[in-house]
Order: sequence, then structure tokens, then C-alpha cells
Amino acid sequence: MTDKLVIFDTTLRDGEQSPGASMTRDEKLRIARQLERLKVDVIEAGFAASSNGDFEAVKAIADAVKDSVICSLARANDRDITRAADALAGANASRIHTFIATSALHMEMKLRMSPDEVFEQAKRAVRFARNRVADVEFSPEDGYRSDPDFLCRVLEAVIDEGATTINIPDTVGYAVPELYGNFIKNLRERVPNSDKAIWSVHCHNDLGMAVANSLAGVQIGGARQVECTINGLGERAGNCSLEEVVMAVRTRKDYFNLAMGIDISQIVPASRMVSQTTGFVVQPNKAVVGANAFAHASGIHQDGVLKARDTYEIMRAEDVGWSANKIVLGKLSGRNAFKQRLEELGIALESEADVNTAFAKFKELADRKSEIFDEDILALVNSEGMSAGADMFSLISLAQHSETGEQPEATVVFQARGVEKKGSATGNGPVDASLKAIESHVQSGAEMMLYSVNAITSGSTESQGEVTVRLQHSGRVVNGVGADPDIVVASAKAYLSALSKLYGTVDRVAAQG
Ligand code: KIV
Ligand code: ZN
Repeated sequence: MTDKLVIFDTTLRDGEQSPGASMTRDEKLRIARQLERLKVDVIEAGFAASSNGDFEAVKAIADAVKDSVICSLARANDRDITRAADALAGANASRIHTFIATSALHMEMKLRMSPDEVFEQAKRAVRFARNRVADVEFSPEDGYRSDPDFLCRVLEAVIDEGATTINIPDTVGYAVPELYGNFIKNLRERVPNSDKAIWSVHCHNDLGMAVANSLAGVQIGGARQVECTINGLGERAGNCSLEEVVMAVRTRKDYFNLAMGIDISQIVPASRMVSQTTGFVVQPNKAVVGANAFAHASGIHQDGVLKARDTYEIMRAEDVGWSANKIVLGKLSGRNAFKQRLEELGIALESEADVNTAFAKFKELADRKSEIFDEDILALVNSEGMSAGADMFSLISLAQHSETGEQPEATVVFQARGVEKKGSATGNGPVDASLKAIESHVQSGAEMMLYSVNAITSGSTESQGEVTVRLQHSGRVVNGVGADPDIVVASAKAYLSALSKLYGTVDRVAAQG
């Protein structure tokens, strides 16, 4: 018999904890809709008690996304669990994921609680959560570094209280595959009521083994839920990557023999959406979703693939949603053709007003760029372009002059909190001058931690440039992304988008993991 493997996506919770990856409510909703199209079983939409912004995002997703179970994280206390349950009230199917640390190190140094106190609190939290929802997941934080005897005691008790999923986090990415797999196997064998819950793996990638560890937890340990994120987004070196785990289980069905509900054709659109929204660029050689993942450069490989694809290909690019850079629309395309293409790409804009805004942006772009590809359309709806009205800062116009031997200068007109501003500056390049022109008004004093430019579609200098800017100020880190055929303009858009996030970010409580 083929077991089902539950895919639990935590891009919007653990992924978002990555410094600079914070997303607005609307961005999260857009990604949640894409995760629903991808048919993930469970979407961890956030940590409702961590901030009002997170509460609103979980609530908006619970109200709008109906085909996946919607989950909120909650520490093991009544307030967090109540906030989670309230945010999830509108969901078709909801889950509360409650956690408390169980390793000696975390209990003593972080929680300053005795093992008996942690035991009681874990039990109480699951009981409290079960009074609000039927589907409760429990995680012993830093579980992999916890004493197995203590862990067995806690896990047996929380299953008795009604926990339906038991998740074993490798919070610090310390595990190696065989040991992690056996750790879970051992727990499942020793906990007397283990068959009353689904066991789950949650691995961080500090040693580059999150996917391997998760698969070992499944194959050796018998876990039937994998917690993962799109592009492996997550704190430090990230979490287990959804696309890799899904494609490994699918491609090697002969070995894993597990069924999944995932629509793999939505993998690449999901990867693009997350990368364009957060500004976390996907490395070219990343498995499945990297730009080179299906590129054959060597003559021998190319020759082999032309004769028979499976000589060098174990997966098909088109199956996971790669489309050849195809010209899809041009400046003569009308609103209906544009709207239809959005639908074909699985992009559901909230309202007709949003379609009109996107169409106006598309027309502007088509006036300047003769060929519009799917990638351009995705960038248009994912990047700051769509939220220009809602952003605190947005670009109106930019003029710059640079000439060999002269100091570049730029004048930028932008909107700041509803007021039009005009700034001019010189710099050591046109990008530098433009950002200084903006700063001459905003005076954020933010430190730039990253500036990167990528071509949205490869193979031509006509491509739009996609710029990511990462700013840090007073301990906050934010990313801004901007796309435009003119990379100076893209840079100014990215900078203004980062400033909007910097001034709009709400402080949240520190979430572990
Ligand atoms: O890594 C971790 O321990 C977590 C838990 C909160 C599940 O993310
Ligand atoms: Zn985690």
C-alpha cells in the first residue's frame, strides 16, 4: 500500500524569519494562493501572536485560502494559542502548531524552566489548543538535541492530550541523515501511543543536509509529514527545500513509494514568486528551480539529450513549470489578452482595479520593451510595481546623466508618504547618484548590506534588470526588489521599496527556530 506524504509549507512562517525576508500581508496572501495552487497540504501562514501584522496575515489567508489546511504557530501558552485560534477562525480547515523547547540547553539557558515544568506546560498547551481546534501539532523545539527519555515522556503525554501531529525539529541543523532517521524511528518505537499521531520532520540546513535529513526521517524514521519552504528559504542557511524534497520523492518513487498531492507544474512559478517577493535570489545551480538546473553546456551532454532525453535528464523542465522564454504579449495586446495570460500563469489578482493597475504597468513596459515574456509579467505583479499606491515610497520619475570622465548626477522625483519630493545628487555612478538623491530627502541613515542586479530573462540585453537592495537599520533588515529595463530605475524602485518596508515593519516577538 502507498502511504501519503503530507507536505507542510512554512515559507510564510519559518521562511519569513530569514533576516530581510519579511513580507507584507498582501504579499503573503499572494504567496499563500500560489501554495494553494501548488496543492500543499498545510500552509503555516505565520505566528499570529508575534505581531498585529502577522495576526492579520494569518487571518487574511485563513479567510481566503480554502483548499489547504491553514496553520498558525503558537508558543505553549494560552495567549498565543488564543491569538492563533482567533486568526484561524475563518478557515475551512485549521491547525494550531504549538511548541516548547525540550533540550537541556534550551530549557536551562533560554526558558529557565525545569524539565517537569516544561512537561506540564506542553501538556496544558496541547489540551488548551484542542479545545479550540481538532488538528493540533506539537513540536519539541531543539528536539533532535533533547534527551530521548525525556522526549518520549513529553511526546506520550501530548499525544494523550490529543496532539494529532508530532514534529521533531532539528532546530539548529545539527543532524546527519542516518542518525536523524534512527532518532525518529526510535521515538516512534518507544512512545506507546505513537500510532495515534502523524510524525513529522523539520530540518534546518546549517550543514547543507536539511533535505537529506528530512528524507532519512521519512524513509528510516517513518515520518509522514515533511516541513519545508519554497527555495529552502529560512533563517541562517535555510530550511528543507520543498521543491527538492518533492522532486526526490517523486523521481525516486521506486525507492520511497509515497503518494503526494502536489501539482509540480506550479513549482517554478512558486519559486519565482517567493524570490521576487523577498529579494532572495535563487542560485543558478540550485536543484530543480535554479536557472541552470536543466541547462546542458557540454557537447557530449547536449548530443546525448538530443538523441534521448533520459541519457542525462532525470526530470523534465516543463513538468516543474519551466517554460521556454516565449514572447507572450506585445504593446498591441489588449486588456483581455493580458488578463487571460495572468489566469494562465495562475495569477489571481484581487480585484478588477488591480487588473487595471497591472495592465497600465504592462502597457508602460510594452512601450519600452518590444518583447514581453512570462517572466516580465510575473515580475510586474510580484514587484513593487503593483503596490505602488500602497507603498510608503514610490518612484515618479528619474533623470540621470553620466559620461566618461564626468561625475554622474541624478534627479529623482518620488512620492514619500503621499507627498511629492524631488532630490538631486552626484555619486560615483548613476545608481549611487540616484540613491543619494533619494536619501537627500529621506535621510534614513540605513546601511546597505546587499545590492544585486539580475536579468529577469536570460540571453538578451533587452531583458529587464531585477535589482535587490537589502537595508539594515536599528537591528531591522529588509529587502526591496525593483524591476525595469533601465537598471538605474530598477535600483531606485528597489531602494524605495526597501524604505517602504523599513518604515512599515512592525516589531514582532522573537520566534525561535
Ligand atoms: O526549528 C524549529 O525548531 C522551529 C519550531 C518552532 C518548529 O521552527
Ligand atoms: Zn524551524
